[in-house]
Amino acid sequence: MAVELKPGAGQRIMQRLDELAAFTEDPPGLTRTYLTPVQRAAGERIIGWMREAGFEAGFDEIGNVVGRYGAPGLPTVLIGSHFDTVRNGGKYDGQYGVIGPIDCVAALREAGVRLPFAIEIIAFADEEGVRFRSTFLGSHAASGKFDFSLLERRDDQGVSMAEALRTYGLDPTQIGRAARDRQRALCYLEIHIEQGPVLLQENLPLGVVTSIAGVSRFQATCTGLAGHAGTVPMHMRQDACSAAAELALYVEKRCSGVESLLGTVGLFSVRGGSANVISGIVDFSVDLRGATDALREAAVSDILGAAERIGEERKVRFEFNKIFEAGATPCAPWLIERIAAGIERHGVPVRRLPSGATHDAVAMAELCDVGMIFVRCGNGGISHNPAEIMTAEDAEIGARVLLDVILSLEARVRAY
Ligand code: HGY
Ligand code: MN
Ligand code: MN
Repeated sequence: MAVELKPGAGQRIMQRLDELAAFTEDPPGLTRTYLTPVQRAAGERIIGWMREAGFEAGFDEIGNVVGRYGAPGLPTVLIGSHFDTVRNGGKYDGQYGVIGPIDCVAALREAGVRLPFAIEIIAFADEEGVRFRSTFLGSHAASGKFDFSLLERRDDQGVSMAEALRTYGLDPTQIGRAARDRQRALCYLEIHIEQGPVLLQENLPLGVVTSIAGVSRFQATCTGLAGHAGTVPMHMRQDACSAAAELALYVEKRCSGVESLLGTVGLFSVRGGSANVISGIVDFSVDLRGATDALREAAVSDILGAAERIGEERKVRFEFNKIFEAGATPCAPWLIERIAAGIERHGVPVRRLPSGATHDAVAMAELCDVGMIFVRCGNGGISHNPAEIMTAEDAEIGARVLLDVILSLEARVRAY
């Protein structure tokens, strides 16, 4: 049966993303972090759109927004992405993968189509991990892999995750109930902007993700000796800032020129620094990605080795706390082929490509097979930046292909 998105889907998706972007902690920028009043308001707006489209919708035990279309007990196709953001982020990262699929279900309902499976759209509450230096909290809870020790993690104001959950009206002891039934999870699908330049350069609106890069993310500290900027001779200093800066340059050098290996120092701050004081302690982050785990793990070991060498030379001490690690995650071949067929049916050449960004699909791959559709973004593919952009046409064709893939699953499920 032919099912079409309602006319104006692309515009509607973009308007809703504009509306959602107004739920921010620091206007005019977009920052929406886990379990904040702003996130609750955004979640309630998403619930409103889901209910208009025919879902039963609400918050789950970890703060995800969940919309279900289909009878209880049916096998379920899970679709989703995240609705938290990085600081001063873009309005399409994650959020497009929540708003676009709502239009797909609205079209199914409009056409009176009842599939032999239910569809759940999940807006994950914490993929970026900004507030508690976590990540995948929502999708790990959904896949049954939530790490309860994270409940003690505190944000910059000293509020623990458990307290924040209770303030939000949730009971941390109930998080286990957010886990989806493995037996009924048919697959997980995510549509997401590419956050890179490939589709733009090749003039393609869509791509199909083959695998998602592995990540190792550290919170690090370099401890030297604070001293007077005017009296300590240069050769006698234990300057934490210079040592950490040398290591940051090593990270850049070690990862440059190696295909699919990426290293980033995104956070860097002198603790209690002053302009006329040699820095005593520096806090910084290291984020390493690789298309293969071997590539990434070798870079991790070299960078830890460099820290030791720099520490000895400069008489400073580095400490590394691994706050997140995920192995490279392949998308399921059968879903890659279905997505490729859907892209082809829409007259678009099929482009398979890996994802350097991580996605909730990494966590959901612990529960079921996963597939991802990439949608072109403009401005050179920039993301994690307010200049992130996509077009209504591309937003629409991404949702059209997702609807196509959902309908293509019917035969597979009936064949069981
Ligand atoms: O870091 C990432 O790749 C994702 O945006 N959280
Ligand atoms: Mn992101
Ligand atoms: Mn994202």
